Formats: sequence, structure tokens, C-alpha cells
Amino acid sequence: RARVAILISGRGSNMAALIDAAKRPDYPAEIVGVLSNRAAAPGLDIAARNAIPTASLAQSSFADRDLFEAAMTRVLESWKADYVCLAGFMRILGEDFVNRWLGRMINIHPSLLPAYKGLDTHKRALADGATEHGCTVHFVTPGLDDGPAILSARVPVLPGDTPASLADRVLAEEHRLYPEALRLLAIGKVRFHDHRHRSDSHPN
Ligand code: GAR
Repeated sequence: RARVAILISGRGSNMAALIDAAKRPDYPAEIVGVLSNRAAAPGLDIAARNAIPTASLAQSSFADRDLFEAAMTRVLESWKADYVCLAGFMRILGEDFVNRWLGRMINIHPSLLPAYKGLDTHKRALADGATEHGCTVHFVTPGLDDGPAILSARVPVLPGDTPASLADRVLAEEHRLYPEALRLLAIGKVRFHDHRHRSDSHPN
């Protein structure tokens, strides 16, 4: 089974969905560790209750981002991670770290990318009068929320929706979509190919 580490910053509901999926004997990945950039992230307790190794590293305790990310890489390597899933990890990652995991690191974002990159996606979709919204799992590349999509899921925007009610509807889809996207990656059904980001990603 593929060895997967999860990076979180907070609640960890997508992390929990991945942990639950990986409990199924036929699931092609196992969760080997959960790393948070916030020691108080509630998701760390969920991981610990599931007997998954956890670690937390605060960027503020490192002199710069490169040293912080080098420390994250050491933790991920100590877990022998093959893949990294960002699940509500709210730090922008530097180019060296991203390239170190290129094609092996994926993220879930609460919008139908390329619409609404960045923060406050639900509020922005409502403000625009969007009739549809959703979530996307994509490969992580140096551009923010910019890498190739693996899967997306759509939900309707309903009359009377608030950012919170819309977020709940999207989140239910996230919890279904993320385990499915990781499954496709782990069995080799999807692979990273993107000439925009790295010209040698096509060896042939
Ligand atoms: C999720 O909705 C995820 O898509 C979003 O944060 C939430 C984390 O919730 N991620 C981003 O906005 C990334 N830019 P969770 O901690 O319960 O999974």
C-alpha cells in the first residue's frame, strides 16, 4: 500500500475522511503520519485517537520558511511517505518543497478550480451570484491552487444559502472526493504531467 502523510492546520475533517477510507482493507493507501503547522489543531487529536503518528512544527520557531520546510521534509521522510495530502493546510509552500514532492503531493480546494483560488471561496461564489460551486482535488505546483485537477465535484447554490450552509454542502462532497482522488493516485490511474511546470515530466 502507498504510504501517505497528511498535512493539516486545523479541524481535520478531510484528514478524518482519508483515515476512514484507509481503514478499508481494499484501499490502496495507508496513512503513515499527520503533520500540523499548529500544535493546537483539533485534527491532531483525531489522528492520535486513530493511533496514527503525529507531529507539529510551527513556522515561527524557524528562522525562515526554507528551514521550516526542510524540517517538514525530515518528518515526512522519517515516516517514509510516498505521497503527501494537504488537507486544510493553510500555509503557502515554497518552490523547493513543492518541487521535492511534485507529482506526489495533492490538495483539496473548496471551489471548482480555476474559479476562486485562495481564501473565502464560498463567500465569493455567493457574492458573484454563482449557481454552482464545489471542490477540486489537484496536484500541488508552485502556483497557488494552480496545479492540474484530478477530480472535482459540483453542488448547486440554493436560495437562501449563507457561506456556512454552502460550505457544509461542499464539505460533504470533499469527504467523498478526497479519498477517491487519493485512491486513483495510489493505483497509478492518474499521474502528473504538466509541461507548464516542469519540462522533464515526460521522460519519453
Ligand atoms: C476544507 O474545506 C478545505 O477544502 C479547505 O479548508 C477546509 C479544511 O477543513 N482548504 C482550503 O481552503 C485550502 N486553501 P478540514 O480541516 O475540516 O479538512
